[in-house]
Amino acid sequence: MLDGRRVLLVISGGIAAYKSLELIRRLKERGAQVRCILTRNAQEFITPLAVQTLSGEKVCSDTFSLTDEHEIGHITLARDCDLVVVAPCTANLLAKMATGLADDLASTALLVTDKPILVAPAMNFRMWNHPATQANLATVRGRGAAIVGPNAGMLAENESGMGRMSEPAEILAAVEGILAAGPLKGIKALVTSGPTYEPIDPVRFIGNRSSGKQGHAIALALARLGADVTLITGPVALPNPAGVTTIHVETAREMLGAALGRLPVDVAVCAAAVADWTVSNASREKRKKEPGSPPPAIELVPNPDILATLSEKGGARPRLVVGFAAETEKVVEHAKAKRDRKGCDWIVANDVSPATGTFGGDFNTISLITAAGVEEWPRIAKADVAERLAWRIADVVKGVSV
Ligand code: C5P
Repeated sequence: MLDGRRVLLVISGGIAAYKSLELIRRLKERGAQVRCILTRNAQEFITPLAVQTLSGEKVCSDTFSLTDEHEIGHITLARDCDLVVVAPCTANLLAKMATGLADDLASTALLVTDKPILVAPAMNFRMWNHPATQANLATVRGRGAAIVGPNAGMLAENESGMGRMSEPAEILAAVEGILAAGPLKGIKALVTSGPTYEPIDPVRFIGNRSSGKQGHAIALALARLGADVTLITGPVALPNPAGVTTIHVETAREMLGAALGRLPVDVAVCAAAVADWTVSNASREKRKKEPGSPPPAIELVPNPDILATLSEKGGARPRLVVGFAAETEKVVEHAKAKRDRKGCDWIVANDVSPATGTFGGDFNTISLITAAGVEEWPRIAKADVAERLAWRIADVVKGVSV
């Protein structure tokens, strides 16, 4: 049930808008409160009166409406909800979301909201297949939006192909998947992500190429299943995942300090690419190039191992500690040895040799090493790895042994 959950439904201008009326009805039947925004084009397909009658709420469509702004401002409208659903999402609205355009109430609300977003695309198959649309979709998904559909089937103008909006029942299932109390409700999770930067002097550092994509996706997937998630991340070019408490750090020591500060937790997933060494003779001042003198020597000392530390944390040890092993050869063999060495429960091993495109890319090929053995996963998107891992975690923290 969705009792008391608040959904903001953004309806944009496509023929599939008629299905949104059915979606409103079904959301209401499940106990959700549904507020709707109609774009100008959506009103060519369905009327505000129909939407208002079904939702039982005033329909908003105009950013600068004096009455709307008086009753509920557009910022409040976008934030005073538990989930924003965009159904149908036209190619045009998807492009606005990807680029951050805010030229009407719908796009403004989508730019201003801090809540999870579920997108149900609907468009002609040529628009759907266009690289621009696919790039926009990847951007929006990369920022944490969930996507439902589209399906293949009959489209407008007697054409068929990929682009039909998901059926109301499918969208409802996706909404419930996000909003209903998930299997990880009541579970506290800690995720480390991204690289660490170890300073050489105030302007230079030793870092690595970790993008943080996998760790951030895991934090989001755990939160979607209802966990109370803290993400501790090194410097990355990614937005903070929706619904996750994100702590930004630079060095391995800061990451360890932040992690210890969040204990006790039920689950820890260490996906960060922590620098193995830090610079012991880091300079407070910028090191100068002295003409004729040799380059300065950089002295390295080992960094604390966050994964190993969490794995041995005595009474405060998380029930499940998961580490990563990025390997370029003998992936499983090295990962098994790492699991023993670090004392963690699972190792998510991946092949990061350059040919795989894993580092910085969107796909990953995983071997999951547990006490029971090795599971080989197919090559799937990092977001799907995250979701699969989150469900595996949900299975074990509900009582099954690890
Ligand atoms: O030893 P290695 O870096 O290959 O181990 C990788 C795993 O250990 C990852 O889960 C990583 O997040 C974790 N790690 C850590 N602290 C370190 C080094 C690695 O938590 N200092």
